[in-house]
Amino acid sequence: MTKIAILVGTTLGGSEYIADEMMSQLEVLGHEVSLYLAPKLSELDTQHLWIIVCSTHGAGDLPDNIQPLCTEIMLKNPDLSHVQFGLCAIGDSSYDTFCQGPEKLIHAIESCGGKAIVDKIQIDVQQDPVPEDPALAWLTQWQDII
Ligand SMILES: Cc1cc2nc3c(=O)[nH]c(=O)nc-3n(C[C@H](O)[C@H](O)[C@H](O)COP(=O)(O)O)c2cc1C
Repeated sequence: MTKIAILVGTTLGGSEYIADEMMSQLEVLGHEVSLYLAPKLSELDTQHLWIIVCSTHGAGDLPDNIQPLCTEIMLKNPDLSHVQFGLCAIGDSSYDTFCQGPEKLIHAIESCGGKAIVDKIQIDVQQDPVPEDPALAWLTQWQDII
């Protein structure tokens, strides 16, 4: 059993729905999963696996609900050397800044020592109108290693 924190970045709610589906899949496997819709450093355990499910808004920006976490990490420079994470990014390829929002958060986490446990997935809602399907398939590919 692994303790997992799913960090959600969303404006319109789509990423939250994907995160809920991932949570169900992981709980069936016996993992203990918590969902964070307004994640703060003080609430997050660096020993847990972080799965970041995050869209992009504005012009390559993080959604407002998760931007404060990114700012907090950049300002406080916490020790995240125990953090292992996976990124499921959701975006729209009609924007030049396709899936760029969460890159800022990942950069901040990696700058503080965090490491990706799996290659990220970037889901294009132009190609995948049901983004939870590729998201759950991505999770299925690597869930055996956790
Ligand atoms: C105002 C607006 C700006 C957006 N900007 C971007 C962008 O810069 N890059 C990108 O990949 N997608 C962009 N998108 C697309 C969203 O990321 C996409 O619709 C996503 O599915 C929304 O997920 P959410 O429901 O979790 O917020 C934008 C969407 C809106 C409405």
